Amino acid sequence: MPGILNNIAGPVVNAKNMKGSKMYNVVKVGDEQLIGEIIRLRGEVATIQVYEDTGGLRPGEPVVDTNQALSVELAPGVLKSIYDGIQRPLELIMAESGDFISRGVTTRAIDVKKKWDFKAVVKKGDKVVKGDIIGEVKETELITNKITAQENGKIVEIKDGSFNVEEPIVTIETGGKKKQFPMLMRWEVRKPRPYAEKFAPNIPLITGQRIIDTFFPIAKGGTASIPGPFGSGKTVLQQALAKWSDTDIVVYIGCGERGNEMTEVLNEFPALVDPKSGKPLMERTILLANTSNMPVAAREASIYTGITLAEYYRDMGYAVGLMADSTSRWAEAMREIGGRLEEMPGEEGYPAYLARRLAEFYERSGRVRCLGTDERIGSITSIGAVSPPGGDLSEPVSQNTLRVTKVFLALDASLAHRRHFPSIHWLTSYSLYLDNLENWYVNEVSPEWLNLRKEAMTLLQKESELQEVVQLVGPDALPEKEQLILGTTRMLREDFLQQSAFHEIDTYTSLNKQYLMLKNILRFHEKAMDAADLGISPAKVNSLKIKESIARMKEVEEKDIAKIEGIEKEIEEQFSKLRRD
Ligand SMILES: Nc1ncnc2c1ncn2[C@@H]1O[C@H](COP(=O)(O)OP(=O)(O)OP(=O)(O)O)[C@@H](O)[C@H]1O
Ligand SMILES: [Mg+2]
Repeated sequence: MPGILNNIAGPVVNAKNMKGSKMYNVVKVGDEQLIGEIIRLRGEVATIQVYEDTGGLRPGEPVVDTNQALSVELAPGVLKSIYDGIQRPLELIMAESGDFISRGVTTRAIDVKKKWDFKAVVKKGDKVVKGDIIGEVKETELITNKITAQENGKIVEIKDGSFNVEEPIVTIETGGKKKQFPMLMRWEVRKPRPYAEKFAPNIPLITGQRIIDTFFPIAKGGTASIPGPFGSGKTVLQQALAKWSDTDIVVYIGCGERGNEMTEVLNEFPALVDPKSGKPLMERTILLANTSNMPVAAREASIYTGITLAEYYRDMGYAVGLMADSTSRWAEAMREIGGRLEEMPGEEGYPAYLARRLAEFYERSGRVRCLGTDERIGSITSIGAVSPPGGDLSEPVSQNTLRVTKVFLALDASLAHRRHFPSIHWLTSYSLYLDNLENWYVNEVSPEWLNLRKEAMTLLQKESELQEVVQLVGPDALPEKEQLILGTTRMLREDFLQQSAFHEIDTYTSLNKQYLMLKNILRFHEKAMDAADLGISPAKVNSLKIKESIARMKEVEEKDIAKIEGIEKEIEEQFSKLRRD
C-alpha cells in the first residue's frame, strides 16, 4: 500500500501511511512520480524533500517508497557527463521535457545500451578481493576506466569483449556460490566509499598558480576553501585549478546563484582545453550543474553525488580534483529545507547540522591506498568556493568551512577592484599543510624554498606597516632602505603574485620557474640593500634595466627557462656597475 500525500510546503512534503519506510529512502511522490528522499520519520509520517518542482501536487496523491537510498550509477560513461544534482543527464532531461525544470522524468545516468570494449586483466581461476582491478575499458580519449571486483572470491569466468554496462562480464565464486557481475555498480551517495588507508598530506597538489604553490600550498588529497565576495574571481580561480592542477579527473559542481551563471559554466566548461593533452577538458571531467531555477533539494544532493563520483575514480587509483562553486549555495539549500522542517534553526537560520554536513563533505577527501591487493593510490582534493554575503567572513558558512578546511585562500574585493588577480590576499590567507609539505619542496624544488618563501612573506608584512606610514607622511619621508623594501614588495606583488588566468604562458608556472622567479626578486632585494649601505640612492637602484627583465619573467616560456636563470647573473653585473659608476 502506498503512502498518502498529506501536505506540501515548497520542496518539502509530508506523507502518512509510510510504515516500514527508512530514513533516506528514495520515494516517488504523487501521480507524476516526482523523485524525493525521506529526510525525517515520525511514526508513520515521512517528511520528504522533493528533487523536482512540487507545484501542482495535491494532498491525497500516492507516495511510493522505492526501498532504496539515493544512489548513483557507477560505470564507464560517467565521464564527460553533465548531470543535475541527482545524476540525471541534463541533456536528457532537457530533451524529454523540453525544459530545464523537468518533472517525473526518469532517465538513466549513463547510456546503458552503449557497448564498451572490455579487456580482462585477470583470468579464470585467479583469486580476487574486493577492489582488485579485474578489467579495463577505455572510457574516454584520456581515461581508462578500471573495473574492480565487487566480491572476494575466485574468478570462474571472465572474457574480453564488447559489453554494455549491464551485461555480466565476470562470474565470481564466493563460498561455493557463483555470482555474475556487470560493469555497473550502484552506491549510496551519503555513504563514503571505503578505502584501505589514508595517508598524511605530504605531497602537494601542483596547481601552477604561483601564490598557491609557493605561499599557500594545497596538499594532494587536501581541502581548501576560497571565500570571496561577489565578482572577486572565485569561478575563474576554480576553473584555473580544474584545468591546471595535476589531477587526472575533475569533478566540477556548479551551484550558480544568478540564472545565467550556470549557463556560462555550461557553455564555457565544454570549451576548456586540457593543456596536457590538447583534448577537451571534458574528456576527464564530470560536470554537475545546479541552476537557480532547479529545485533546492537537488542542489542539496549535488555535493554528495559529486563526491561519490569522485570516490569512484579515486578508487581506480586516480587523482581527482573536486571543485564546488559555491558551497554557500549548497548551504542555502540546506537552510531552505531545514526551515520547512520547523526545527529550531541555528545561526542565521541555517540548520544546526550545517557544521556537521560541511565537515562530513570535506572529510571525504584524502589521499588513500585503495581497496585491493595492489598498491594503488588515489586521491580527492576538495576545493570549495564560499560566497559570504557582503564579503563578511563571520557568517556561519564561512566560519564552519574555515574550521574544517586546511587552506584558506581569501579573495579580496579591493584587490579584484584594482585588477590584482588572482585576488588572493597574501596577509589573510594561510595553508596548514606547510609543515607536512616542507620536505617535499626541499627535496623536489630547492633546499632554499622555505627560506625564500619566509623572506618574501616577511617583506610583504613589512610593506603593510610601511604603507600606513606612507599614508601619513608620504614615501619620501621613509628611510632609503624602507623605500627599497617597497620597491621589492611591488615586484613581489606585480611580478610574482599577480598572475593572469587568460595569458597563454602566465596562466601556468612550473614549480621550478616559480622558485627561480622568487629567487631573482629576492636577489635583487639583497643587492639593493647592499647598495643602500654603500650610499647608492634608491632612484639609481630603481632605474636598473634588469627590473624590466624581472617584470617579464612571468611571460617567459618554460623551454626558455635559461633566460630566467640568467637574470641572477645580470643582477650581479648591473649592481657592480652601479658601484663603479
Ligand atoms: N586570475 C584572473 N586573471 C584575470 N582576470 C581575472 C582573474 N580572476 C578573475 N578575473 C576577472 O574577474 C571577473 C570576475 O571573476 P569571477 O566570475 O571568477 O568572480 P566570482 O567571484 O566567481 O563572481 P560571482 O560572485 O559573481 O560568482 C572575471 O570575469 C575576470 O574578468
Ligand atoms: Mg562565480
